[in-house]
Amino acid sequence: MVSIEPAAPEAATEAPPLQAEASTEPTATWTRKDLLDTDVLSGEEIGLVLETADAMAEVRERPVGRVATLRGTTVVTLFYENSTRTRASFEIAAKALGADVINLAAAGSSVGKGESLIDTVRTIEAVGADILVMRHPSSGAAALAARHTDASVVNGGDGAHAHPTQALLDLYTMRRHVGDLAGRKVVIVGDVLHSRVARSNLWALMAAGAQVTLCGPATLLPRTLRTLPGHEGPGGCEVTSDLEAALLGADVVMALRIQRERQEQGLLPSLREYIRQYQITEERLARANPGALVMHPGPMNEGVEIAPEAAHGLRSVVEEQVTNGVAVRMAILYLMATARPR
Ligand code: CP
Repeated sequence: MVSIEPAAPEAATEAPPLQAEASTEPTATWTRKDLLDTDVLSGEEIGLVLETADAMAEVRERPVGRVATLRGTTVVTLFYENSTRTRASFEIAAKALGADVINLAAAGSSVGKGESLIDTVRTIEAVGADILVMRHPSSGAAALAARHTDASVVNGGDGAHAHPTQALLDLYTMRRHVGDLAGRKVVIVGDVLHSRVARSNLWALMAAGAQVTLCGPATLLPRTLRTLPGHEGPGGCEVTSDLEAALLGADVVMALRIQRERQEQGLLPSLREYIRQYQITEERLARANPGALVMHPGPMNEGVEIAPEAAHGLRSVVEEQVTNGVAVRMAILYLMATARPR
């Protein structure tokens, strides 16, 4: 059991799960220097993150909402792409653990003078960073950075490759409502081909034993995902363009943002056609299981991939995803900081 000190005894009541607790008892300890994707995480490691996030959520519910566990640790966020949720929640998470935080955006840094990613990362390490949270438009950028620094690197999204902390907060949100995900049907709808969120969710969900259905227009579906070696968790993956069939019996429906630039690339016939065939609406959600969760990683294009009534309806946990992102990112920072050599 994870214990975060100092505790406030009068406020230490644990937030009850909304339904059943996850059945997987974590037996892992965190030993990883970096978190680059979910594809390398075992079910036990994912369980450890989620249990630690429960403890962090309890910290957030205390009157003060912060502890000094990471005092003396420096977290740097380095974002080469726009972000609201990821960047803000990492900053709040680091401060809630007592860490020092420095936020760097490519636009205001020496990147604008032509400094390379490797030199930037080495500079950040030289000024004393322990953990570097980075977002970059190129797939593999976080892995490249991790190879050139002793700081721990957390991938906050790299190109179309991975967004592991988003997947872990999504899993955390699902498990608080659905309980054990083994055998549960999770349908991810939209531009799967370009979605780092879909990829990282797929690996995490399969490790948790879920049955994942990836759904969208054929031009936005990576059919190779089913056959990639080394990714056969206890769960399964199906790829389809038939949304009506995909939604039958779904326990979770996650809409992905449609990136309008894909239309210019000719991957979508028209937004109107996409909306007609793939928009998540209350009417379509009637095919899912009663009480199925509606999720979206954000930012949402309401009226495109998701209708406003579905985005803000009773089944929607979109805002809760954002809230849970703080606890999950606190868990990740805590585990990574405590695994670092002293
Ligand atoms: N989901 C997500 O990564 O949102 P931001 O781009 O706002 O960080």
